[in-house]
Amino acid sequence: SKNQLETTVEEQAQTLKKQDQIIRFQAEKLREADTFHRLMMEYRAAIMEMETRFQILNAEFSQEYKRNPFESIKSRLKTPESIYEKLARKGFPMTVETIRERLADVAGVRVICSFPDDIYRLKELLIHHDDILLIREKDYIKNPKPSGYRSLHLILALPIYLSNEKKHVKVEVQFRTIAMDFWASLEHKLKYKKNVANTDEIERQLKACADSIEDLDYQMQEIRNKIDSSRG
Ligand code: GTP
Ligand code: MG
Repeated sequence: SKNQLETTVEEQAQTLKKQDQIIRFQAEKLREADTFHRLMMEYRAAIMEMETRFQILNAEFSQEYKRNPFESIKSRLKTPESIYEKLARKGFPMTVETIRERLADVAGVRVICSFPDDIYRLKELLIHHDDILLIREKDYIKNPKPSGYRSLHLILALPIYLSNEKKHVKVEVQFRTIAMDFWASLEHKLKYKKNVANTDEIERQLKACADSIEDLDYQMQEIRNKIDSSRG
């Protein structure tokens, strides 16, 4: 059997091995965190780049047509918690690769327009930039969601220029009118209220509001067209 000294040495070796494992584990996590922060930096750069493209279109448009093609832009970066939650829900591991490949909405830019036709005009102008790739398009204006939700969603990839490379980064751009945005914001707020009774009725009413809003959008557009043509 082992003497006291042998046992002590063996125990110490075990302890050192465990400490070594812990250190390597922490280092790995740090490296992971470092690449994660770098990835988030790239998405922030992509948002800035996308916003700049829209601001330039806005400046040119106002100069040419004395009118803005959009009212406002709101951008957001998905939080780590939300990224983690979405990957877990879809059954993917939390790695930089899966975030890049499986999530298209880490960088989000929402463009709020006055009229429905501005949305399609802006979309055309944007996708004609020869360095922007259109990856996916979901037209919830032509095909509204059952909820009544309307917006045009594009998944685009656009290049960002880093110190030693050029990289394409995915951005989700959502286009909607002021009225569609008004509906989506309120519907989102209402949906998160718990224990709502008469759910079916509420959903029907919300859907009816969304349909009225579509009607209003096209009426306003028609009024604008009349005013424009009366001015010659
Ligand atoms: P997500 O997993 O939620 O990203 O769904 P998806 O990948 O199928 O994308 P989709 O294009 O359907 O919609 C994503 C985004 O559109 C959401 O994060 C919301 O911002 C918005 N959205 C979609 N449906 C609704 C809706 O019924 N109501 C509201 N208020 N917003 C919606
Ligand atoms: Mg999405």
